[in-house]
Amino acid sequence: MSGSWLHRPLESPRIYDLVQRLLGAGDRTLDGVYSRGFGDSSGIVLDIGSGPIQETPLPRGTLIGVDVNQAYVEQYANGPKSADCRLQGVVASAASLPFATDSVDECRCVAVLHHLPDALSRAAIGEMVRVTRRGGRIVIWEMLQPTSWSAGPLARLLCALDRGQHLRTGDELAEMLLETSKLEWQEERFRYAWPRLHGGQWVTVKP
Ligand SMILES: C[S@@+](CC[C@H](N)C(=O)[O-])C[C@H]1O[C@@H](n2cnc3c(N)ncnc32)[C@H](O)[C@@H]1O
Repeated sequence: MSGSWLHRPLESPRIYDLVQRLLGAGDRTLDGVYSRGFGDSSGIVLDIGSGPIQETPLPRGTLIGVDVNQAYVEQYANGPKSADCRLQGVVASAASLPFATDSVDECRCVAVLHHLPDALSRAAIGEMVRVTRRGGRIVIWEMLQPTSWSAGPLARLLCALDRGQHLRTGDELAEMLLETSKLEWQEERFRYAWPRLHGGQWVTVKP
């Protein structure tokens, strides 16, 4: 976990939540992106690197937040209740998921890989492919490195200040996903939030 003076306050679920809300204020771009990626989910769904707040659409079934930060996991599991979805939390690393092979219906991993160096990111992708059942879905959502300053100076500045120090361009991430999983991914790229950050979402179904 990051230990810099700038990032340490974000380990607190409340401060993390506040920063997320300030960044996302007034922008609904992600509603559409999320509904295309996570629509009609059901069964056992892992939210890997969940953070403290459940942000993506709820599946019908069980949504399990998996994170290395115990305070985040506890808050996540106690999030808003829904009749159709039970929330749970597990403290674990994305690179070593404590779930059996082919055992879950969906893995979603939102804004996490840019916190992980290449070897750990590859291990996390491999773990998602391993634990997802055949016919199950994997959704990777990532903040992306803009390729030039003119593509958004503010977005670039926020990338430089981000806790995750392994931001990748969309092309780099697409190549890593393909190489590591050997699966085909449907890709969507977009700009989001008022600083016009760069994002991408990749979706695949395990054959
Ligand atoms: C930017 S936050 C994203 C949280 C959440 N997915 C969201 O979209 O709001 C990155 C999260 O990844 C978690 N994380 C970092 N390294 C991890 C690892 N090796 N395994 C699992 N989670 C990790 C952090 O604790 C943090 O909650």
